[in-house]
Amino acid sequence: MSKPKVFVTRIIPNKGLDLVMDFCDVDLWTNDLPPSRDELLKRVKGVDGLLCLLTENIDSEVMDTAGPQLKVVSNYAVGFDNIDVVAATERKIPVGNTPDVLTDATADFSFALMMSAGRRVLEGDRYVREGKWMTWGPMLFLGNEMRGSTLGLVGFGRIGKAMARRAMGFDMRVIYYDPNEPRRDPDVKAVSVDFDTLLEESDFISLHTPLTSDTHHLINAETLNRMKPNTVLVNTSRGPVIDMDALYEALRDRKIFAAGLDVTEPEPIPVDHPLLTLDNFIIAPHIASASRSARDKMAWLAAKNLIAGLEGNHLPNCVNPQVHR
Ligand code: DGY
Repeated sequence: MSKPKVFVTRIIPNKGLDLVMDFCDVDLWTNDLPPSRDELLKRVKGVDGLLCLLTENIDSEVMDTAGPQLKVVSNYAVGFDNIDVVAATERKIPVGNTPDVLTDATADFSFALMMSAGRRVLEGDRYVREGKWMTWGPMLFLGNEMRGSTLGLVGFGRIGKAMARRAMGFDMRVIYYDPNEPRRDPDVKAVSVDFDTLLEESDFISLHTPLTSDTHHLINAETLNRMKPNTVLVNTSRGPVIDMDALYEALRDRKIFAAGLDVTEPEPIPVDHPLLTLDNFIIAPHIASASRSARDKMAWLAAKNLIAGLEGNHLPNCVNPQVHR
């Protein structure tokens, strides 16, 4: 029997790729950079399944170019704003994602950003490398302490709760804003507040919300203005949740203390972006989930989702389970 044809848009860890290779006839995109739109449209023609990354925009054109035999789209990410899920559902195509397995890696990294930006770790590093370190100084690189401060979480899903658990170990007060998850979690000491309270009371703000029309530029000139001057803002969710021009102005004018971004709008951030000139801004290339174990598990789960869809079974993690009704 012939194997199902799939397009895999990048080399992923072997924990998943080997499964896909065993089960499918694979067209693998081996470049480090994503396929261009034209290349994507060329490669998807006639495939039964697609394993893609957040760098690919999977819309109705891609699905229709693939053809009516397309059985599944498996995203190697928990976020799926790169996929038109409504279009997939209309075509009865299940869409898979990779939640849970990257929760701790992402929460660890968000903490790393909060602490690095709050305690000016990268500024200190540059200072030493530039030969400016002359002596111990009582006022050198003063920053913000975690203990006793308030952490405001925007989004209280899996990663938000993992942040709250970590914050308990640092003796922080945790508040959160999440219109979809207003329930308390008995294992986590955190208080649900409205968005204004979160902005006004938090010393650290960490974003863990999906990108939707409601969260696009949720952090903008107006909301930045409501934050305290000592606030450290970090984002490991999706770049467009923050208006980057407004963030630049707030940091430049010291309206907030510092920011750390793992995600930007656009990605990659242009190297001449004014944010990159600021000392109170730190940046990473969208690597919050990049622990070896998280990436292995993401690959495994993305492969399982793909294969389940090809076999006509329910995906282990399906974002549009209504396709099966
Ligand atoms: C995701 O999974 O959505 C992250 O942004 C990448 O791991």
